[in-house]
Amino acid sequence: MKQIRSIKGTHDILPNEIYKWQQLESIVCRTCEQFGYREIRNPIFEETGLFSRSVGQETDIVTKEMYSWEDINGKHLTLRPELTASVTRAYIQHNLGNQSPIQRLYYNGPLFRRERPQKGRQRQFHQFGVEAFGSNNPEQDVEIISIAWRIILQCGLENETTLNLNSIGSEECRDKYRIALRDYIHPYLKDFSQTSQHRFETNPLRILDTKSEKEQNILKGAPKISDYHTENDSSHFNSLIGFLKNMNIPFSINHKLVRGLDYYTGTVFEFNSHSLGAQDALLGGGRYNDLVETLGGRSTPGIGFAAGVERFLIAMEQSGINKKESSLDIYFVCVGEKALPIVLEISKKLREIGLKVISDTLRRSIKSQLREANKLEAKYALMIGENEIKDNNVILKDLSKGIQITILQSEVIKFFEDLTN
Ligand code: HAM
Repeated sequence: MKQIRSIKGTHDILPNEIYKWQQLESIVCRTCEQFGYREIRNPIFEETGLFSRSVGQETDIVTKEMYSWEDINGKHLTLRPELTASVTRAYIQHNLGNQSPIQRLYYNGPLFRRERPQKGRQRQFHQFGVEAFGSNNPEQDVEIISIAWRIILQCGLENETTLNLNSIGSEECRDKYRIALRDYIHPYLKDFSQTSQHRFETNPLRILDTKSEKEQNILKGAPKISDYHTENDSSHFNSLIGFLKNMNIPFSINHKLVRGLDYYTGTVFEFNSHSLGAQDALLGGGRYNDLVETLGGRSTPGIGFAAGVERFLIAMEQSGINKKESSLDIYFVCVGEKALPIVLEISKKLREIGLKVISDTLRRSIKSQLREANKLEAKYALMIGENEIKDNNVILKDLSKGIQITILQSEVIKFFEDLTN
């Protein structure tokens, strides 16, 4: 029969790599909690309109990357391609703004985008991220960026990561800038790709994101958005820059950074990693001061970021900074059925004092159980056979040193307690 395999662009996360995920998740969780953020978990699918209204009708995500279908009752549904929209929907739906004038939330989970799979780009991928609703002050921006920076530091990625920062200004600024950018590009328009020509009509700011060298060269002389900032835009951005300098968070201003989702206003940023190749965006985010209102809530400013878990893990792997999997403390070798109740009871007590213990369930020979213990890199093997049952003993073998002693069963727990204290 034909074997069924996983879908292109999706991956099984296997037991021998899961510890890396768990380590990163625990860094994320601890850091977010330290900043007073609380976890939110949203559904995996939502109404399609949630994403077209927030991410934007003309964005790559909405026009070509969403997994959408019509449900049996005619409802249009979509596997979430990002989480800011879902978190904002939940913020409005559950009146989270009434509970506190500032809501600090974080998340971690799978997302779905039908992109061309390559290194660091999957169709099912994972993000962790944070969103803060309620404050339009630059200290909120620096708080969000500090969380990202702290996670990057704890993952050991600070030397190979650059924070790119920009402000795409207020609506007023963008309206004026759009005209100026169109005026600048217009004479060269025939030299631009079809995609950029389309963006010229729908959202010319996105042309700044082009990967084409030819287009980038033309854009070298383009007007800068910062020249169109209002006084408020400039003072917000300058305060943020001041805070970042105070906090020693290195950054570089990139006037062409616009981000590919339509909800952004003002501050936008990306952390890019030099070791990731083409898909070098480790983490991206920004302000979305109009999103709550766009989705039907009371006007509330917001800012956040999301990071690609797979990309973090690749970057950590390439820098050789992945920690090791925590090893097995004890492999309990059991010889004969009679020893089973004793093995089960001692194993239970050993786990109660926090040790990682496996006891054999295949009733194999001593030799093959010990082979398994070595393969699993257990620190110790405990062995109980007929003689040990008779004398209330257990054989304890230090597998790294090859030393073996016999102790009373009643002393096993104390032995390991003394060892770990
Ligand atoms: P985004 O830039 O679309 O932003 O995605 C954030 C991060 O998710 C990227 O920097 C990248 O690391 C990872 N990522 C995106 N697509 C893929 C993929 N196909 N495969 C693997 N990793 C991927 C957002 O999603 C916004 N919601 C971020 C945000 C939160 N803005 C404000 N709050």
